[in-house]
Amino acid sequence: MSCTHTHDVLIIGSGSAGLTLALQLADQFSVAVLSKGELHAGSTWLAQGGIAAVLDEQDSEAAHIQDTMIAGAALSHEEAVRFTVRQSRNAIEWLINQGVPFTRDGNQYHLTKEGGHSKRRIIHAADATGKAIQSTLIERAQAHENIDLYEHYVAVDLITRDKLRLPSNRCVGAYVLNTRSGHVEVFRANHVALATGGASKAYLYTSNRDGASGDGIAMAWRAGCRVANMEFNQFHPTCLYHPQAKSFLITEAVRGEGGHLKLPDGERFMRRFDERGELAPRDIVARAIDHEMKRLGCDCVYLDISHKPADFITEHFPTIYKRCLDYGIDITAEPIPVVPAAHYTCGGVVTDQAGRTDISGLYAVGETAFTGLHGANRLASNSLLECVVYAQSAAADIRAQQSMEQNLPDIPGWDESLVTDSDEDVIISHNWDELRRFMWDYVGIVRSTKRLQRAKHRVNMLQHEITEYYSNYKISRDLLELRNLALVADLIISSSMLRQESRGLHYTLDFPELSPELRDSILTPVNYAWPR
Ligand code: FAD
Ligand code: SIN
Repeated sequence: MSCTHTHDVLIIGSGSAGLTLALQLADQFSVAVLSKGELHAGSTWLAQGGIAAVLDEQDSEAAHIQDTMIAGAALSHEEAVRFTVRQSRNAIEWLINQGVPFTRDGNQYHLTKEGGHSKRRIIHAADATGKAIQSTLIERAQAHENIDLYEHYVAVDLITRDKLRLPSNRCVGAYVLNTRSGHVEVFRANHVALATGGASKAYLYTSNRDGASGDGIAMAWRAGCRVANMEFNQFHPTCLYHPQAKSFLITEAVRGEGGHLKLPDGERFMRRFDERGELAPRDIVARAIDHEMKRLGCDCVYLDISHKPADFITEHFPTIYKRCLDYGIDITAEPIPVVPAAHYTCGGVVTDQAGRTDISGLYAVGETAFTGLHGANRLASNSLLECVVYAQSAAADIRAQQSMEQNLPDIPGWDESLVTDSDEDVIISHNWDELRRFMWDYVGIVRSTKRLQRAKHRVNMLQHEITEYYSNYKISRDLLELRNLALVADLIISSSMLRQESRGLHYTLDFPELSPELRDSILTPVNYAWPR
């Protein structure tokens, strides 16, 4: 007998997007928030640099809009950019009202600078902004009587009226694996929101931690939603290069505060690639580093801030200072070895300005969504901003539908009668490794048609194997993530094949120029060729 939970709103994800949405709705509605790990799982906790917002008198909305459009290589939707930037002050004020302790500079908040920004406009909490935001929002959510928080609950798939063979399609809930009991439970809700973060775990090297497996994108796609611009996976230029450091980012604010990128012989090289030097947008810096590493055959380049006073460094970058010291690197005295790594998924589930997807009752917010804001390359620190702004507008849309109708259909429990326990879990870990390696080698910073074709062939084979495994064995979190990642990898490859130009984060040797045509790569489930 499967357990059934019923709420007004089901939010899948407890990052900045999911928790903002929950807090904005909870005074009116009963809300369930799921996290597949602890509540602080996901990328929000890891965010270092801060949030971009127009807060300074020297700055202007026009400048932030222009910087976002330039970074997005002209593909950002102007309407989405204007909307986000105009809401930025309001979003920051809301976070401050929740209690987020942003770093102060006398009577004002300190603003730092990052690549692609023409002004200082990044409000931050030292170099651990995400932790400050998420811990504050978690505390607020835990204190709210209308919010039920579920840890270690992994959403498997969305439930729609179509799937139940009922008329008038609408999302009515989700099947969710309780990883502590091992059973799949039913969550019913009048409104469902995907706030599941990105998919950078599709790549071997990433700044993200476990869990960034594109679950929301995969679930929305399987339910029938369009997905856009998946070829634009952002590579952050500077992750710590050290055998024991797993996915540790060195914030762009280090360059914003004067850090220099250097080759092993000490040469500063960025000006050879872009007149903005170290503060060029991320796609340019990551590609320049990749180019120099391949040219010289070196394992990393170096980021050096040691010319700044030691107390300035330890005050602005306490987390990075301590973490690097743990690995024997004193950043006040020596350069930091760095490499690029997959960082952010610019594409996602197609939504409108209220976070609505193609399916009635289903919303997508945060990194899992495609709002049009980021175009071909996200401007640094615009992501946390997007999470808060679009969660607020999705909440307003849900609130506007005042009466939450309670005529949810009966939903059958999860059928496990035909599956058995797996005796070969090694298949999962082997396929994970294979997928992430070929994505890194063939669908990484520099692509070509041949490499994409190879990757497509491999991902099709993997999907067959995974589908068979999924049909025959009991599900686990690892299997669900692998199944989602293989699908999302396929969507990344398919979008990359559609884009016959080099723009922003998508660089291919076969089409090195910009095309005069500006278009998004929109994939629709019905037109999609499933692997045979
Ligand atoms: P996340 O914070 O990633 O949360 C996802 C949530 O979904 C988690 O709770 C997870 O458990 C849950 N989840 C996922 N799948 C399932 C499932 N199947 N079932 C149940 N729950 C599920 N952006 C900035 O703007 N500024 C920065 O300074 C910055 N620094 C960054 C530094 C690092 C190292 C990284 C990795 C990213 C950084 N970013 C930054 C990007 C930004 O942090 C993320 O884009 C943003 O936090 C995403 O928030 P989110 O709420 O959409 O998802
Ligand atoms: C960073 O701090 O460099 C990350 C900022 C971002 O991803 O927006």
